[in-house]
Amino acid sequence: MSSFERPHGIVFEDIGSNPALGLEVPKGLALVRANSLAILDRSGIGASTYEHTVDVFKHARAMAEILFERGHIIETVIDWAAIEDGAIRHDVGKSGMDHILDSKEVLTPETRQVVRTHPFQGLLMTSMSPDMDLYGHPDMDLSFEALRFLEGMQRYIVVAHHDYYTPGELADIAAHPVYGFDPKLIKDEKARALLNFSKVADIGSALTGERPYLKARLASEGRPTTFRGIDEVMSIIHETIPDLDDQTSAVAEEVIGETLEFNQGRVMMRELMEQLEQQSDESGVLKAFSKAVGKRRQAIREALAMPNEQLAVGVR
Ligand SMILES: [Fe+2]
Ligand SMILES: [Fe+2]
Repeated sequence: MSSFERPHGIVFEDIGSNPALGLEVPKGLALVRANSLAILDRSGIGASTYEHTVDVFKHARAMAEILFERGHIIETVIDWAAIEDGAIRHDVGKSGMDHILDSKEVLTPETRQVVRTHPFQGLLMTSMSPDMDLYGHPDMDLSFEALRFLEGMQRYIVVAHHDYYTPGELADIAAHPVYGFDPKLIKDEKARALLNFSKVADIGSALTGERPYLKARLASEGRPTTFRGIDEVMSIIHETIPDLDDQTSAVAEEVIGETLEFNQGRVMMRELMEQLEQQSDESGVLKAFSKAVGKRRQAIREALAMPNEQLAVGVR
């Protein structure tokens, strides 16, 4: 297991931290958020799963803001919390799997089988810290039903964010007294829409990030580029989530498309820099040119180290 320090900064802020939305956020949601972060910190996931988690969270938040404003699916801050906290927890079951995920090899049937256990491992891990335990906390201002719904959605999202289980198997899991959740969620339209939403954010991150095994897979398909195009990403999303509604799909295309453009731009710039550096070692002319643009290269390097939000403007 790799060790890393959780970066500090803008990630995992409380819900409704965008002042433009003018939201009143119950204190109970901050308690649930603290529980999510405690589960994440204890999980022992490695740096790349952590980065993916941040990425899913960012996609989820960007989509949640838009859909909340439109009153579609995300109608309350509780729905919103279900998505964001679900994003934070969804892959905690990948604990100790980063040696597989960071491998430059395409997954084998055996390693794939190990990775496939992560939703259930995650369910067990997240159930070790029940949100319902927060009900007696002096700052808890959520109703019993709201907290129960939120806890149930967390468990549902963690275990079902990939379609590894049939509805029957999910119903059996939901019926379990320790790690189970309200079985009605599996058939509830709203709960399924919230689940679909988190699936989209997850796929969006997986297909726009620079994961070594994805790069290996694309290379094995004979692809010249590091990334798929947005049309292909959207068609994979529709194949994976056949009941995705049009509004969520449109918002996904917007948000994921932006990430894709940003990441493509970043990789392209980095590859150009590498080429330039390599060539300037070999050629005197390029060396002189390289010296001339040295200052600009420094600026590019600094820009590459910036968080997405700041650089996105320059790339678009
Ligand atoms: Fe996952
Ligand atoms: Fe994931």
